[in-house]
Amino acid sequence: GGDFNQKIDYVFKVVLIGDSAVGKSQLLARFARNEFSLESKATIGVEFQTKTLLIDHKTVKAQIWDTAGQERYRAVTSAYYRGAVGAMLVYDMTKRQSFDHMARWLEELRGHADKNIVIMLIGNKSDLGTLRAVPTEDAQEFAERENLYFMETSALQATNVESAFMTILTEIY
Ligand code: GTP
Ligand code: MG
Repeated sequence: GGDFNQKIDYVFKVVLIGDSAVGKSQLLARFARNEFSLESKATIGVEFQTKTLLIDHKTVKAQIWDTAGQERYRAVTSAYYRGAVGAMLVYDMTKRQSFDHMARWLEELRGHADKNIVIMLIGNKSDLGTLRAVPTEDAQEFAERENLYFMETSALQATNVESAFMTILTEIY
């Protein structure tokens, strides 16, 4: 949107969670500013960015929150999840462990968030397909079992990033 006074119809808070280095901050940078950095530093505490979009002729301000995957850099968990209507559970498709931890992240999310929150499972770094450690079917199965949306993305190549955020925001709406 341009630099004009916009009437905002809705503000949707969406939180990003998942292990360190899976690409949460770069997914957000790609979505909010169409930027990407290979030298991304680990997030400390909490950051957020907003992007205003049109959905069904309504102005929706997406407020995307990003926190540290590393335990020692994490801020107070309950404040992070408060008011969130969407969540992205991100793993790195080249790191099996980051996928195996999804159950734990989901448990934390479900323990703190509203029960109607829209959740999407994201397998990031699809540009590194030759190093894949998580078959698409494993993630699909987990997503179906847990009632999550699922997409594979690449923040680097901008593959499915817009689509993932738009799907979650449209579902919230
Ligand atoms: P924490 O803040 O520590 O929780 O990590 P994070 O999940 O925010 O990871 P971050 O976005 O900082 O990315 C970690 C590393 O992965 C950086 O070197 C990024 O450039 C790289 N990266 C992120 N997304 C992609 C991607 O889609 N493809 C590739 N090849 N690298 C990526
Ligand atoms: Mg980060």
